[in-house]
Amino acid sequence: MTEIALKLCSQKKPIPADDQLGFGVHFTDHMLVMDYDLKKGWHDMRIEPYGPISIDPSMMVLHYGQAVFEGMKAFRAADGNINIFRPRDHFQRFNNSAVRVCIPELDIEELLDGLKKLLEIDHQWVPSTHGTALYIRPFIFATDQFLGVRPSHTYKLMIILSPVGAYYAEGFNPVKIMVEDKYVRAVRGGIGAIKTPGNYAASLLAAVEAKEKGFTQVLWLDAHELKWLEEVGTMNIMLKLGDEVITPPLTGSILPGITRDSTLKLLKQWQIPVAEKQISIDEVMAAGRGGKLVEMFGTGTAAVISPVGSIHYRDESVVINNGAVGELSQRLFDAITAIQYGDKEDSFGWIETVKL
Ligand code: COI
Repeated sequence: MTEIALKLCSQKKPIPADDQLGFGVHFTDHMLVMDYDLKKGWHDMRIEPYGPISIDPSMMVLHYGQAVFEGMKAFRAADGNINIFRPRDHFQRFNNSAVRVCIPELDIEELLDGLKKLLEIDHQWVPSTHGTALYIRPFIFATDQFLGVRPSHTYKLMIILSPVGAYYAEGFNPVKIMVEDKYVRAVRGGIGAIKTPGNYAASLLAAVEAKEKGFTQVLWLDAHELKWLEEVGTMNIMLKLGDEVITPPLTGSILPGITRDSTLKLLKQWQIPVAEKQISIDEVMAAGRGGKLVEMFGTGTAAVISPVGSIHYRDESVVINNGAVGELSQRLFDAITAIQYGDKEDSFGWIETVKL
C-alpha cells in the first residue's frame, strides 16, 4: 500500500451548488503533492490543504515550460460511490507526456492510490446532477532554480480537483467552427501528441481571433500542407460521412484522446463502420455541399461529445444536420455518460470505483 502523509485542513470551504459550477473555477479543500529529486526519485506523497505555493522567480518551468498535465473526471454514481473514468489510461498518457519533455515517469498504481485517497477525503465535492463531474487535474512542473536550458533535476507533482458543469457555454448544443488556415497547432515530431502547456499556449491566438469573428472554436489543419483535418479546439475531431465515421489517425501531432478511444470502441461494438484515416478539408466541404456530411463532433474529457453545427472555410460556410444535435452524437454522449455515472454496464472495464 502506498504511504501517503495526511495534513487535513481545519476549516472547510462552502461547496457550490450543482447549477453554479462552470468549468474549472472552484477547487476542493485538499490537493495531492509529491516531489522528485535525483537522489530520492519521486517521494513524499502527501495530501495537504488546497492553497497557494511559493515559487522562486528563477523556477525553470516559468522560463522554458517543462511541464505536463492530465484531465480526467470522477462521477457520482446512483449508489453514492465515486466512479473514476479510465484513470490508468489517463496516468499512462501522463507518463507518455512526461517522457517527451524529459520528466521522470511515475508509478501508475501509486498515483491511483493517492488519487483515490484524495477523492475519499474530498468526496463531498463530487456533484451528483447529470452533466456535472469532479474534474481531476494532475500536473508536473520543473522546479530547479536555474536559467540554463536543460531538463530540470527537481519536479513537483500536484493533483487538484474541481467540481464542473458544462465546458462550453453552449452546453451540448452544436458549436460554430472556423477552419484555421493561418496558424497551426502542432507539427509531426513536435509536442502536439502530449498534454503540455505549450500546445495550449500555441492555440490561444487562433481561438481569440475566431471568437472575435463569432465562432466558438477553430478546426485545426496539418502544419505541412494546411489540408488535412487534425483537431477541433482542444478536442479530437470525428465526422460521419454517409454511413462511415472517420477520424484522423494518430500520426504524431494529434493528442491520443481517451474519449476518442472510448468513442472508437463503442462504434466498433455497435458495428458502425469506422476508419482512422486522413481526410482533407476540401473533401469535407464538398461533402457538406453535397449533403453527405451527416454529422461532425469533437470528443474530449471536458465536453465528452461536442456537436459541430457549422463550419466556415475561407469564404464558405456549410451547415451540418441543420445545426441540430445529430443522432449519433446523442447516442455516443448518452452511452459514455451512462457508463460514467454507472447507469449502464461497464463492459469495457473503464470505471474505477471509490467505495465510500
Ligand atoms: C478536454 O478535456 O477536452 C480538453 O482538452 C480541455 C481541457 C484542457 C480543459
